[in-house]
Amino acid sequence: MKTIKSSSRLSRVPASPIRKLVPYAIEAEKKGARIFYFNIGDPDIETPKIMIDVLRNWKMNPIPYGRSHGDPILLKSLVSYYFKLGASFIKEENVLITTGGSEAISMAMFSVAEPGEEMIVFEPFYTNYNSYAAVNGIKLVPVRTYGKTGFHLPNRVEIEKKISKKTKAILICNPNNPTGTAYTNEEIEMLVDISVKNNLFFISDEVYREFVYDGKKHNSILKFMKKYPDKMILLDSLSKRYSLCGARLGMLVSLNKEIMDGVLRIAQGRLSAGFIDQKVAENLTEIPESYFKKNHQEYQRRRDTLYEGLKKIPGVFLEKPEGAFYAIIKLPIKDSENFCKWLLTDFRYKNETAFFAPAEGFYATPGLGKNEIRIAYILKVDYIKKAVEILRRALVKYKG
Ligand SMILES: Cc1ncc(COP(=O)(O)O)c(C=O)c1O
Repeated sequence: MKTIKSSSRLSRVPASPIRKLVPYAIEAEKKGARIFYFNIGDPDIETPKIMIDVLRNWKMNPIPYGRSHGDPILLKSLVSYYFKLGASFIKEENVLITTGGSEAISMAMFSVAEPGEEMIVFEPFYTNYNSYAAVNGIKLVPVRTYGKTGFHLPNRVEIEKKISKKTKAILICNPNNPTGTAYTNEEIEMLVDISVKNNLFFISDEVYREFVYDGKKHNSILKFMKKYPDKMILLDSLSKRYSLCGARLGMLVSLNKEIMDGVLRIAQGRLSAGFIDQKVAENLTEIPESYFKKNHQEYQRRRDTLYEGLKKIPGVFLEKPEGAFYAIIKLPIKDSENFCKWLLTDFRYKNETAFFAPAEGFYATPGLGKNEIRIAYILKVDYIKKAVEILRRALVKYKG
């Protein structure tokens, strides 16, 4: 019988380093171990009650499709949300509700570049950009950032060096996953200027917008949207802001009519984002400020606990993250994927262990990140303390 071959582009889609070790965690749990999941940004913070109540009081039967553009009430709420951020020019036609920010990323890539074209990213970057780039046939061109400068951007020359005839866009995540870097106003202005001068799209992934610490301010692309309506694309998500990861809701926001008309056509093809999910989220404007304030304080406390704890472990290096809920940690080991796997398969402290993401997949340049892990500080402080202790003891024991 003839063998049938799948597409070569399928083989180019990488496994996500956030999830590829999950089978080892499941196996460890089956054997009775307790695993602390620090590998993924899926917070233990409660979803607002007003959202949970929608599920509790659900009456609709049957459950229909939603509109392709998005649920009209949720769209209205989102327009109010952006209005409160100072973007009074964002109207419903500038927002497309997507199946998570993930779909918005993929749609943005598809919309701005042909297969074979390029996009500038800042390394280390959100690993799943690799998946969407592979699916869309786009080449990510990394500009390196370094721990010693808090992973802030290099100068303009270093960035412009990477621009070629094939470059279509600059893609940034602010604040950054995996580094926690919150870019300064000057940095964002520089990128806007580079994109305008080189006729590139500027795509800003701001799903962690609310999570910037130490009294620092978030510098959003929204500030530049009206001035450069065709070039700016905002990627957004409800997953982190409202601890709503399982509802799968995100947004693509732009004043570029051609882009918005095009992504709506893609959205029509996939029918709609989840109807129930959108109903759950539609009252988001009614969530009290106290919800965000409390969570913000909690994440900052978690960040401080992690940073102070890790700093004391010999051979471990990290910069204090300024935002989001991630940190890149350098370890005195050769191969973090083997180490993370070993933590799940072999290491136990009081029958517990921790699950971290190996960092290599957050880089595009081969070899980088091999001695680093990414930790998502999305579990409560007591568990973060346990993770630090697990890591401290594991590094003493690990041979590799
Ligand atoms: C930087 C960044 N963008 C987008 C997403 C996608 O989130 P979702 O699809 O849950 O909205 C994530 C999820 O972790 C992320 O970290």
